[in-house]
Amino acid sequence: MAESLSVQAAYKAGKYTELIPQIKGLVTGESNLIANLANVSSALKMTFDFFWVGFYLVEDEALVLGPFQGTIACTRIAKGKGVCGTAWETEMLQLVPDVDAFPGHIACSSSSKSEIVVPVMKAGRVVAVLDVDSTELNDFDETDAEYLTELCRWLGENCF
Ligand code: SME
Repeated sequence: MAESLSVQAAYKAGKYTELIPQIKGLVTGESNLIANLANVSSALKMTFDFFWVGFYLVEDEALVLGPFQGTIACTRIAKGKGVCGTAWETEMLQLVPDVDAFPGHIACSSSSKSEIVVPVMKAGRVVAVLDVDSTELNDFDETDAEYLTELCRWLGENCF
């Protein structure tokens, strides 16, 4: 396992291109899910300085807070509720430029202004969601969507 990250690119796409192979290297060979998701959260936070980044894990009828980096957060989210519960129910990425305009958004922190949530699928079912929050409006775009989708697809197939 690598013990440090090296990301030199100035632009977002370049950062993701450098980071994702290092994340794969970080978790390959370690079977503990919590340890791996903790390091994935940290790697994303270190590289992009996101306000909040972490995972909610599907457990019976709820999403339960998993490894994350950032401020304390709500621990359980029901299916269909908020941005995370919507990503779970619809099995689709949610790109939210203004959280106040998203019906039912769950405000874990009033500092969060925009958000992206990506489902993690294993064998055709959602097993978790990756949630990333920013203090800036409209901070996520198709580049984040593309690379975070690639990352979550790989995590679903290799870590869960
Ligand atoms: N805003 C999310 C809840 C999770 S926190 O942002 C960490 C939602 O609406 O599902």
